[in-house]
Amino acid sequence: MDKILVVDDEEGVRHSFKKILARKGYHVVTAKDGLEAIEKAEEERPSLAIMDINMPKMDGLETLQRLKSIDPDLTIIIMTAHSTSERAITAMKHGAYDYLTKPFDNTSIMSLIEKALAERKMPAPSSSVEIVDDRGERIIGKTPAMLDIFKKIGQVAGSDATVLIRGESGTGKEKVARAIYHHSTRVNGTFLPVNCAAIPENLLESELFGHEKGAFTGAESRKTGKFQQCHNGTMFLDEIGDMPILLQSKLLRVLEDGTFQRLGGKEMIKTDVRIIAATNKNMKEQVKNGEFRDDLYWRLNVVCIPLPPLRERKEDLEDLIAHFIKVFNIQLGKNIFGVTPELMNEFIHYEWPGNIRELQSIIQRGMILCQKDLLDHEDCEWDPQRSDFDVEQRDVEKSLSDAAHELLKEKGLNIHKEAVSLFESILVNKALEMNNNNQVLTAKFLGISRNTLREKIGKKKGSSVPEK
Ligand SMILES: Nc1ncnc2c1ncn2[C@@H]1O[C@H](COP(=O)(O)OP(=O)(O)OP(=O)(O)O)[C@@H](O)[C@H]1O
Ligand SMILES: [Mg+2]
Repeated sequence: MDKILVVDDEEGVRHSFKKILARKGYHVVTAKDGLEAIEKAEEERPSLAIMDINMPKMDGLETLQRLKSIDPDLTIIIMTAHSTSERAITAMKHGAYDYLTKPFDNTSIMSLIEKALAERKMPAPSSSVEIVDDRGERIIGKTPAMLDIFKKIGQVAGSDATVLIRGESGTGKEKVARAIYHHSTRVNGTFLPVNCAAIPENLLESELFGHEKGAFTGAESRKTGKFQQCHNGTMFLDEIGDMPILLQSKLLRVLEDGTFQRLGGKEMIKTDVRIIAATNKNMKEQVKNGEFRDDLYWRLNVVCIPLPPLRERKEDLEDLIAHFIKVFNIQLGKNIFGVTPELMNEFIHYEWPGNIRELQSIIQRGMILCQKDLLDHEDCEWDPQRSDFDVEQRDVEKSLSDAAHELLKEKGLNIHKEAVSLFESILVNKALEMNNNNQVLTAKFLGISRNTLREKIGKKKGSSVPEK
């Protein structure tokens, strides 16, 4: 386990750090001032130091420089009373990894330490790596932000660290997740995508963790959950921000020690799954609002890859367009060379709310109609003033389509009977919930008569969806 040096002139601070870190299994050495810190660093060779910036004898900044000259690879985290302090910023310039503002809580300290140590262990990426996803397709981008992302993918792929990919809809989150998997040592294991927003809340637990026979009405036999199926593989938890709060604690447990219980079961099951999660939500905000557990957030956030929206990297437009034209020329058997300068100009001035996915679908639509060498505005049937790209609507459609995929694949349901009635029953259930179980309001809300609603509720009672 890593050795950590804690440097602070206050005995209480040293003591409490020692307690928390030792509990996590770290080997801790302490020093009460800069001089002692230098001695300990020479003797003990720690991997990481946490250090107060205001100390007697030798000041924190000078200590930092001396420590770095002993071991340039030592990761140093500075503690300060004011986040905007000039000294903290100077410390960062002199090679401190990060700084913490007092007072701080144990969760954020631990996650910062774990993140810093995980990053130390990442192999240095070779500068010539070409990042491709698991289908062998390149991730297009040459802007500095994208180059940083490629570097990070290269660094993180080799470790088993949990990764959180953030970004607006259509920015390439799944593509990045697949690239990490493709470049990881788990590439021969499964890559299992799970869209947390697409699976109804009352089914998600049994989907992920499985259930025992009789765990709920309709659970006729034991079911193996995705965490067990994905043993030795990589799970992509898409739309993690939509995971119900009750399930979050169960996920935290899996992340901490790889164990879980099936729904209705007592047996502790062990699994070895690497988690890559993605979200388009502001998770810090969700934590603040109590919608997301902060301990789980910190756990998932060990390495974070924020994907820039397309409007912030328009220099990549040209390459992306060329890439999609090449792909669709093959798919459609066409021989289109590029886009007209007028269309290119419109593309450059457009804000791209649906990001790369939107660009891809405009080019695809245009290329189906295009009969010339160059794609033009008319072919694309696109009005940049009135984009029909409704992000929210598309999110709903995507969730429904993922859910349909899950149901049909997992359960082999008969499309016209079971799947449709299951969807309908979930819809009716939600509508009732949103209208406080008031049938008159629910019928109005759904635009159906009360009798029809009653009929549907009657059907719902006979369905096999587990009751909440
Ligand atoms: N850098 C890129 N190079 C080439 N294709 C890309 C790139 N980024 C995204 N794409 C393509 O754009 C589409 C959307 O990407 P992806 O599904 O990974 O986005 P996402 O962020 O997961 O979107 P959503 O939030 O809608 O799920 C995919 O078809 C993907 O192949
Ligand atoms: Mg996605």
